[in-house]
Amino acid sequence: MDKINITNYTPPDRPELMRLLLALQRDYFAENAERQFQELRREKDSVRSFEKYLDEIAEEKESWKILMARNEAGRVVGMIIGSTSEDEELVLGRMGQFEDWFVEPGVRGQGVGLQLYRELEKWFKEKGCQQVCSDTWRGNELSIKAHEKMGFFVSGVKFSKKL
Ligand SMILES: CC(C)(COP(=O)(O)OP(=O)(O)OC[C@H]1O[C@@H](n2cnc3c(N)ncnc32)[C@H](O)[C@@H]1OP(=O)(O)O)[C@@H](O)C(=O)NCCC(=O)NCCS
Repeated sequence: MDKINITNYTPPDRPELMRLLLALQRDYFAENAERQFQELRREKDSVRSFEKYLDEIAEEKESWKILMARNEAGRVVGMIIGSTSEDEELVLGRMGQFEDWFVEPGVRGQGVGLQLYRELEKWFKEKGCQQVCSDTWRGNELSIKAHEKMGFFVSGVKFSKKL
């Protein structure tokens, strides 16, 4: 396997990050999520939604982390995005939120996802986080298995209904 280099996101990475976000949230979701859930999450314009998402992250840099994974040739093969927040009512109220995580199909199962998550978790700890939460859709077994491998447990169940 190629040696993988994990780096902080910088603005020139934006087109590659957009490519991976769309591959995850639009294409992979469309291929893997249940039809009725897809209908509820369908966006008017995915590209515009992600442009907006990245603009918002850029405005709140301190509470967000984006990491990019590159192979030896310098090609981007994965990314991870996390954020931090505070819930003052909780004893362990400093939270890390694990937002987006994607590794290209051709390099999955070789430890790239784990490397990305480890770096993100290091940052959560540096930021004083006391817990990390994350979610995915029902049936995304790859994600569920990978989360369990990183030490997560399933902590809740979400319900949706079309009206
Ligand atoms: C989830 C994802 C980012 C993990 O990246 P990855 O590089 O494949 O992960 P790793 O190779 O580091 O594997 C980590 C663990 O995930 C699980 N895993 C990885 N590939 C798997 C597979 N094909 N089948 C079952 N479990 C698998 C294993 O537990 C693995 O640990 P192990 O190899 O020590 O058993 C990647 O599979 C992916 O992009 N999936 C599609 C998008 C997605 O679901 N993203 C998360 C949305 S919340």
